[in-house]
Amino acid sequence: MRLSGKVALVTTAGQGIGREVALSFAREGARVLATDVNVEALDSLGRSSGRLESLRLDVIDANAIAELFQDRAHFDIVFNCAGYVHQGTILQCSDAEWRRSFDINVDSMYRICRAACLLKIERRRGSIINMSSLASSVRGVPNRFAYGATKAAVIGLTKAIAADFAASGVRCNAICPGTIRTPSLAQRVAASGGDPDQVWKSYEARQPMGRLGEPAEIAALAVYLASDESSFTAGRHSFDRRRLGKLVAINRTGERERATGKIRGARYGHRRPGLPAAGRDRRPVRFVTRKS
Ligand SMILES: NC(=O)c1ccc[n+]([C@@H]2O[C@H](COP(=O)([O-])OP(=O)(O)OC[C@H]3O[C@@H](n4cnc5c(N)ncnc54)[C@H](O)[C@@H]3O)[C@@H](O)[C@H]2O)c1
Repeated sequence: MRLSGKVALVTTAGQGIGREVALSFAREGARVLATDVNVEALDSLGRSSGRLESLRLDVIDANAIAELFQDRAHFDIVFNCAGYVHQGTILQCSDAEWRRSFDINVDSMYRICRAACLLKIERRRGSIINMSSLASSVRGVPNRFAYGATKAAVIGLTKAIAADFAASGVRCNAICPGTIRTPSLAQRVAASGGDPDQVWKSYEARQPMGRLGEPAEIAALAVYLASDESSFTAGRHSFDRRRLGKLVAINRTGERERATGKIRGARYGHRRPGLPAAGRDRRPVRFVTRKS
């Protein structure tokens, strides 16, 4: 099993992605503390071979987070999954909605990451995984003004933590999916007032993969990032780039690597895995994007 002997904290594990991640971590041998505000949802998780324990935790309760990390001094893996979707443009976003979005989506992760970093630095190892979204600094999505701003902040805090602590053995990465088929999405479809079939199709049509994702597909990535298989991965934000762009990397020796897909005009400054990076001849890599 890929996570044997590890202890994991998963927030908002009552349903959707958090639930699937908690179950996957336990299946892979981790001892998992699954938390959520919805105690009934947590109860329905079952105990998964005695490796799953559940606890009510409201991620916006700073005192509860502090107490949790006082009581349980040791988590090898932290999966921060909290996310509230405010729908609307900047003109439909009140101060209260902006504040609520940051309380749930960003401040909670800041507090949990800070508590986790303190412990993990002492132990010199650990993996923190934060749920961001394609709607973030990766891509602007209509009517997701506050949500996109918070999820961009999640990428920023993830990269900053990685920059500060990767050398201390604390890895921090973010996952940035397109739309995933979860109960909250089903609620949003039902609440939209449109023909549900058409609304589902419209969600599918705008996905980079041409279909919705499944929570299990995100859990598979989370297991990888939590495991020692990803021991050299930190400060990455992982997303599906298919049809996002044809990304061409050119280094000074003229070597090229081409990713699949299409892009419209954006410029990416980060290095793609697989490019020559090590050794004395390492040279800066310039990225350009080409319309297909
Ligand atoms: N579903 C998607 O399409 C999608 C896409 C990209 C990113 N994400 C991100 O993935 C994460 C999970 O999304 P999802 O759709 O699986 O979740 P969801 O909305 O289906 O589930 C949310 C869970 O969070 C719990 N919760 C709500 N407020 C809480 C609080 N204050 N404290 C503790 N628990 C609380 C709920 O009880 C529920 O169990 C979020 O961060 C979301 O932004 C989701």
